[in-house]
Amino acid sequence: MKDILQELETRRHTARLGGGERRIEAQHSKGKLTARERIELLLDEDSFEEFDMFVAHRCTDFGMASQRPYGDGVVTGWGTVNGRQVYVFSQDFTVFGGSLSETHAQKICKIMDMAVQNGAPVIGLNDSGGARIQEGVASLAGYADVFQRNIMASGVVPQISVIMGPCAGGAVYSPAMTDFIFMVRDTSYMFVTGPDVVKTVTNEVVTAEELGGASTHTKKSSVADGAFENDVEALAEVRRLVDFLPLSNREKPPVRPFFDTPERVEPSLDTLIPDNPNQPYDMKELILKIADEGDFYEIQEEHAKNIITGFIRLEGQTVGVVANQPMVLAGCLDIDSSKKAARFVRFCDCFEIPILTLVDVPGFLPGTGQEYGGVIKHGAKLLFAYGEATVPKVTVITRKAYGGAYDVMASKHLRGDFNYAWPTAEIAVMGAKGAVEILHRAELGDAEKIAHYTRDYEDRFANPFVAAEKGFIDEVIMPQSTRRRLCRAFASLRNKQLQNPWKKHDNIPL
Ligand code: HXC
Repeated sequence: MKDILQELETRRHTARLGGGERRIEAQHSKGKLTARERIELLLDEDSFEEFDMFVAHRCTDFGMASQRPYGDGVVTGWGTVNGRQVYVFSQDFTVFGGSLSETHAQKICKIMDMAVQNGAPVIGLNDSGGARIQEGVASLAGYADVFQRNIMASGVVPQISVIMGPCAGGAVYSPAMTDFIFMVRDTSYMFVTGPDVVKTVTNEVVTAEELGGASTHTKKSSVADGAFENDVEALAEVRRLVDFLPLSNREKPPVRPFFDTPERVEPSLDTLIPDNPNQPYDMKELILKIADEGDFYEIQEEHAKNIITGFIRLEGQTVGVVANQPMVLAGCLDIDSSKKAARFVRFCDCFEIPILTLVDVPGFLPGTGQEYGGVIKHGAKLLFAYGEATVPKVTVITRKAYGGAYDVMASKHLRGDFNYAWPTAEIAVMGAKGAVEILHRAELGDAEKIAHYTRDYEDRFANPFVAAEKGFIDEVIMPQSTRRRLCRAFASLRNKQLQNPWKKHDNIPL
């Protein structure tokens, strides 16, 4: 008996060493943690339960029969984050570069199936050279099995990917189908094909960092939702995100203890809006002043900064925030901001997270760049996402709500539950200057008359009262009381029930 126990310990020890001391040292020397060290940081202490520690690949080609390390390049299992269950896989770069074999894929599929069955998020820590070259099509099949599960799990359990090393080929398509992707600066890369292949095919010379580093994917491509300085920070931030999310679509988002009064008044908000309507102000200030304890988890902070997306809590309950940012492009909607916000709204709706929309939008960005890029279809994504969302929707118009963008930004007409406006709101087809230039084109030479018409237009439309008279705005509220109003509004919507007509699925303009 004792010998058997000893053998188990010996085998476990071997499994824990992955690709061996030398490769672990190489991993550390790159500033990266090992697969197991990462799991330890991600999960609550001693909460990890491992599956399939002794699984080994079945490949016999290319001399592989003599190299069959336990675990086959991925550590899988479940544990808890602040006491709440999550499933996790962590690819081990020290074993065949974390490459995905048939059995490696089977291990990932096993925990994904359990996550869906038991209703808990899947967190993937990716560090992989892609398909295991020695296994050929068996490895491609393994990828496809994972992809299919990503698709089936989408909208059922939250899926979070952290890119913690090179991820090439198949290794990027699974993360691409998850809800959130985070990267680690300077040590992680994502590309369909690496710099060498790019050079061969297109003759472009590009570094791995330029092609698929964290900066590229958080700023330019928007493939990634955030980037962090190192493994430790990335894993800590994933824990923070998990705290905002429900474990599955079967349950409501978590309500956590809060230490902030729902009635808190913020007199400084009464002067947030500048006197000059063309002067910007920072919408993030409003978000931070509304949120419980000023805690805001921003998603896609570096991309399409003219719109802000992220999570806050009100009375301990998670709320998704979408807000125009007047500091960037005057807060207008364009292709990138529409796509960014639409995906966020759909995530919230999948997982029953109520949505708060803060509006200061002068319209859609005009121009050939936008039209040729398909702003009509991309703008429609956001319109569609808001219109189909059945979660509680509360909207506050702080200043401009012009034209189609007024409709799009969770207006009453798209089933907004509470539509508030500050007294500084201007709800109209367009700004006064543009409107007068069209309505009084023949009199443009007469400066006095034009000034008169402009004032007249402003008096009539540059306020929230015309919309309030029609019931499109439920209430004009004092800026300082915004937090109290929002807490009460969302509290009154906790039992909201609204269903869309039955359909197989919709056909959102992709
Ligand atoms: C098997 C692999 C491997 C792979 C790396 N290794 N990638 N083994 N299959 N795909 C092994 C190496 O042989 C090496 O083994 C160890 O992992 C570390 O690799 P290095 O090259 O020494 O590390 P580094 O210099 O850091 O470079 C990492 C890398 C590079 C950028 C990931 O290894 C690389 O370019 N790999 C190939 C990437 C690729 O083209 N993958 C296939 C994509 S196609 P030893 O024994 O020396 O430690 C694909 C198709 C799926 O994924 C499509 C589905 C839609």
